[in-house]
Amino acid sequence: MKNIIPSYVRVPLLFATVFAGMEFFIDSGDKPAFIEYPMVSLFLGVFLFLLIAIEIVISAVDKVTYQLLSEEQKKQLEEAQSFSFADSKLYKSLTRSKAIEEEADVMLDHDYDGIKELDNVLPPWWVYLFYGCIVFAVVYLVRFHIIGDYTQKEEYEMALVEAQKEHEEYLKANPIQVNVDNVELLTDEASIAEGKKIFGESCVACHGANLQGGIGPNLTDNHWINGGGVKNIFKLISEGSTKNPTMAPWKDVIKSTDIQKIASYIISLEGSNPSEAKAPEGEIWVAEGTTETAAPTEKVETVVDSLTTK
Ligand code: HEC
Repeated sequence: MKNIIPSYVRVPLLFATVFAGMEFFIDSGDKPAFIEYPMVSLFLGVFLFLLIAIEIVISAVDKVTYQLLSEEQKKQLEEAQSFSFADSKLYKSLTRSKAIEEEADVMLDHDYDGIKELDNVLPPWWVYLFYGCIVFAVVYLVRFHIIGDYTQKEEYEMALVEAQKEHEEYLKANPIQVNVDNVELLTDEASIAEGKKIFGESCVACHGANLQGGIGPNLTDNHWINGGGVKNIFKLISEGSTKNPTMAPWKDVIKSTDIQKIASYIISLEGSNPSEAKAPEGEIWVAEGTTETAAPTEKVETVVDSLTTK
């Protein structure tokens, strides 16, 4: 038997199929399965190795057997291998084309300056396709124009409802993420109160109940070691301080939306001048523009940079 598909197509094809199957069936979250689970990579590696090994063995066996054949058998084998799809029964039954030798049977006596016309039957593949279209058209006509199942407008509206549902599920599974690039100062009372509550649970030990400072610096003055403004403060609470490990990163403990609230709470107390305030540390931080969220000054940028390139 002749191999219809050569090995350099067969091996990648088989491998790709198994690879795609594993990625499809193994639930590995955002990452591809072969990165998330080393066992998958190992399996795929062994699988590829075996595929190649089998190909090599088969082609070696073929070569050896070929050498053992008599001249006549070799000829027979070559004949059998020259068999192609165009000779197959399936192909013939789908086209019903006449061999060149039989064309005389279907020749019409039309002659246009030597160009002759054949009366071939319509190819069955084409005829079946046409029948299929007719059936489809009848079903479609009855369903949408006679029974009136649903209109295009209704279909569109159903799709919208579906999308809305998916969108809600997505938001439930992936609550809106705040990060240093999109964080904005919150000023509504509820958020500030929430920030104050969480600050009371996690931060007062070092920064004091009125943010006056203790082990950590005073957070109410306009001096900042790591830069002021909502972006720098948000980043510092999330990542911790690179200058002093006592200020640990909180991003794994507190949700990003809550860190945003704490940062807003801290900023809301700027200039509150609590009693027993710790002496200012760091440098005076000036925001350019009118609001906290305005384009950061050059100074802020250098601070953020120094935090990212730690
Ligand atoms: C274990 C003590 C400790 C705890 C708990 C702590 N901090 Fe700090 N914090 C510090 C220290 C020390 C620094 C100074 C870091 C430096 O020098 O860079 C600091 C710095 C800061 C700064 C930056 C101040 C500046 O001038 O740049 C902010 C903002 C801050 N902390 C907020 C918080 C918040 C919010 C919490 C609670 C989630 C918290 N800290 C919990 C010790 C603490």
